[in-house]
Amino acid sequence: MPFIEIKPGIYWVGVNDHTTDLFEGLWPIDEEGVSYNSYLIKDEKVALVDLAKSLKVDEFLSHIGELVDFSHIDYIILNHLEPDHTGVLNILWKLSPQATIVCSPLAREMVSSFYGIKERVRVVGDGEEISLGEKTLKFFSTPMVHWPETMMTYEVNSQVLFSCDAFGGYGSLQGAIFDDECSDFDFYKRESLRYYVNIVAKFSPMVIKAIDKLSSLALNLVAPSHGLIWRKNPSLIINLYRQWASYAETGGEKGIALVYGSMYGNTETMMDAIARGVAESGIGVEIFDVRRTNPSYILPSLWVNKGVIIGAPTYETGLFPLMAHLLDLAVRKGIKNKKTLYFGSYGWSGGGRREWEKLVSPLNWEIVNSVEFKGGFNSEILTQGRDLGREFGKVIKNL
Ligand code: FEO
Repeated sequence: MPFIEIKPGIYWVGVNDHTTDLFEGLWPIDEEGVSYNSYLIKDEKVALVDLAKSLKVDEFLSHIGELVDFSHIDYIILNHLEPDHTGVLNILWKLSPQATIVCSPLAREMVSSFYGIKERVRVVGDGEEISLGEKTLKFFSTPMVHWPETMMTYEVNSQVLFSCDAFGGYGSLQGAIFDDECSDFDFYKRESLRYYVNIVAKFSPMVIKAIDKLSSLALNLVAPSHGLIWRKNPSLIINLYRQWASYAETGGEKGIALVYGSMYGNTETMMDAIARGVAESGIGVEIFDVRRTNPSYILPSLWVNKGVIIGAPTYETGLFPLMAHLLDLAVRKGIKNKKTLYFGSYGWSGGGRREWEKLVSPLNWEIVNSVEFKGGFNSEILTQGRDLGREFGKVIKNL
């Protein structure tokens, strides 16, 4: 994409990533892509706000080169040091001998440890300002959104908030870079939630703290470093982030995520019976096959729904390994305060249920019920499953 002026004197100079398979080496983006949004501000002084991953460096540099001479860049603002926003720093550093890196106190050491740069680094404190001429940059410390050094940059005159990871999402830009140009908002909403849960959710209390801190700012644009720029309705993405962050405490909304795995179909048949019972209770359910669905896509449903049904057989006296992996990720991401039900078959000994209980206990998941059955299914087991599903559905519906 070409560079795009988003406000007089402020330009999007980012790149789309259509080639990385796994964001952070973990989360699939092979179909969705992602953008690394970088911004150039031209005034009496020239500032770049956040950079890009070391990918498509030629395209990234050509955007900047078309707008300014590299030797005229005065400031490189690094809101966050994760390499998806700083990967091109060393090259840019060499091309811009006049530039000073501007970052938070904690980021200074990261600039050194990641890139070996110790000079021409200016540390800014919370609330500090730098004048570019007509435009003024104001910096806000927003730790743990997403790393401890993270800050946000606010351009006072244009009322643009450069929020870096906050308010961002997966999904490459599809020609449209503004919310009001976008023809598939559902895609970006879904991918923003997936990004939130995969990347930011663990730090939800700090997200709420940051949103509260910024709440008095007049906002004309919210310009994150991934995904759409919010022009028509900047408060929409902020409110979504606040809502998603609140689920860390509340456990989410009335609804059920049903995740299952199966080795020979017995647990899967039980899943269908339980799903039927849930449907009879009149509550919504999202069903995922843990064997075929990457956890990146399941975790958002666990985050959003107050009810979680786990169906997995015993495997070598423990829980089906793919389910154990998913629940381990739920622990790591702090997916707490659920109501839960377990079911699964076993061959010669149980153990799946025991490991499930062990995994969910630190998450404050309230165990509503569970059933482990030996060998294959029969009509009695399936009737029990249907009843369990219906009763669990009622529990969630009546919350
Ligand atoms: Fe987009 Fe935490 O980096």
